[in-house]
Amino acid sequence: MIKIAVPATTTNFGSGFDAFGLALDLKNIFYIEPSDKYEITVEGFSEGIPRDEDNLFIKVCKRVFEFLGEREVPIQLHQVNRVPPARGLGSSATAIVGAIEGALRVIGKSLSLEEKLRIAFEFEPHPDNILPAFVGGFTVCATNGKVIYKKLTFPEELKLIFFIPSYEVKTSDARNVLPKDVPLKDAVFNLQRSALFVTALITRDFALLREAVRDRLHQPYRKKLVKGFEDAVEISYELGSLATFLSGAGPTICSITQENEEIIKEKVRETIEKACGCEVETKILRASNEGVKVYG
Ligand code: HSE
Repeated sequence: MIKIAVPATTTNFGSGFDAFGLALDLKNIFYIEPSDKYEITVEGFSEGIPRDEDNLFIKVCKRVFEFLGEREVPIQLHQVNRVPPARGLGSSATAIVGAIEGALRVIGKSLSLEEKLRIAFEFEPHPDNILPAFVGGFTVCATNGKVIYKKLTFPEELKLIFFIPSYEVKTSDARNVLPKDVPLKDAVFNLQRSALFVTALITRDFALLREAVRDRLHQPYRKKLVKGFEDAVEISYELGSLATFLSGAGPTICSITQENEEIIKEKVRETIEKACGCEVETKILRASNEGVKVYG
């Protein structure tokens, strides 16, 4: 039996659209075993997860075998889903990254990170979730046919509060609301703030974070899909949060703080619940410096 643990991820941090990603201390676990047929069982978040060869993990395993020119090995899979799906926490990335590592372990082969990323991008074309799921930590990345990135250690004194509404938003829908072109002044606005964000982390000048997560490239367009976003930002700042933004493509909202996390968690949750008329689950997480791990 092979066990693969893959971290959830949050991305964008407001201004770092498609560039910043962070691995979190919440993991999906995949148990696999070579078998004579595909068999899939799911624990945790299980609704809508295909139990046949349409399962994302299985599709990616098959692609890895094909990529290497290897004979297909049917797999028995038990997946323990702790990361809520379609909420902006990288649940698909856990399956993609887990499957690449798992399939390689099953056939005793290896690939470079660049090759693994090439396969992963066939399933999810944005590097910001995939990369930290592989390598852990806070990743700053640029794409240029391939991925150029640097991993930083996220300050461990920062806590991330996640507000996870009961409804889903597909990344494809959240991308469809974005404009094809943006005004130069909006591009400059984000450029300034994304540079500020990295500087704030490196120098640990956390007072810069609030300005650094302001964004004009995606959140203003996506807020119509995420009810209560502006209210959440406002109330969290009144309560002393350092930075509040959409987690990935949403609908989860993330707030970073060093203190008062219990009060922020309760008050912001109430505010979002009132605005969206839905239930909001909360999680206080920390960054994880560790990416995917394979055991067995
Ligand atoms: N950066 C991506 C987006 C995250 O915001 O659409 C999802 O891959």
